Amino acid sequence: MWTADNVDDMMGNRRALEGRVAFVPTMGALHAGHVSLMQAAKQLADHVLVSIFVNPTQFGPSEDFTRYPRPIERDLEACRAAGVAGVFNPTVEAMYPADLLPCDVTIPALATILEGAARPGHFAGVCRVVAKLFNIVQPDVACFGQKDYQQCRVIQAMVDDLAFPIRIAELATVRESDGLAMSSRNAYLTAEERRHAVGLYKALSAAKSLVETEGETNPAAVESAMRQVMVSHHVEPAYAVLRHPRTLAELDAINPAVTGGVVALAAGKLGAVRLIDNMVLGRG
Ligand code: PAF
Repeated sequence: MWTADNVDDMMGNRRALEGRVAFVPTMGALHAGHVSLMQAAKQLADHVLVSIFVNPTQFGPSEDFTRYPRPIERDLEACRAAGVAGVFNPTVEAMYPADLLPCDVTIPALATILEGAARPGHFAGVCRVVAKLFNIVQPDVACFGQKDYQQCRVIQAMVDDLAFPIRIAELATVRESDGLAMSSRNAYLTAEERRHAVGLYKALSAAKSLVETEGETNPAAVESAMRQVMVSHHVEPAYAVLRHPRTLAELDAINPAVTGGVVALAAGKLGAVRLIDNMVLGRG
């Protein structure tokens, strides 16, 4: 497995590859969810390329950019074990040279709601780095985890509008045995917070049961139930909503047959740690 820490080396290595390339962009601190993306990527192409880059442009000034975990040797070992062909782990200077005039890529309809409202500028940073990575890596297919549901919608919208010749493969969230979605940020939780964190999954499961089993059609009723479950597990709700699965628009009524399912999205805080999760409902 080769590694490249600058754009020229990465592009040179990429050009030498024959056949289809599947790409898994990451910020490192790899866990079983990332490994499952790499395994899925292997089924989709001849070569798997991974990027490991903690992208400063998607972090707000008061967020965890500097303390975000960077276990690079362990991450490279995980890539090697998963059969990855090459890893792009650029420095910040390689991606964003000081004399660059930055480009703005945004999907305004999605960038300022939910995670975008809580993290101004976050999705512009994600779009900019993903567009740049796509141009550098030139993959045929790129794999993203559905855990970051809004990010998936933003990236698909960017690919559709800017006609990137890349298929986006969205892979199911990988969960711990109690249902907690795997996330690099779970490492910040204390033992007690970790126990409570399952409240996000329980809230989404409550929404699933209300929509799919009880046929509830009122979004407000489901949202209120989700918040109650979060609070009962000591998770401070940031939001707990049901939305259109593609546009993330608010719903007047729950009618999965018309909207092609609905998505329940939840974000909550455990101490200083903010976690997100989601579940697509009503798709049979
Ligand atoms: O999901 C992530 O880890 C990041 O947002 C991504 C897509 C690698 C861009 O930095």
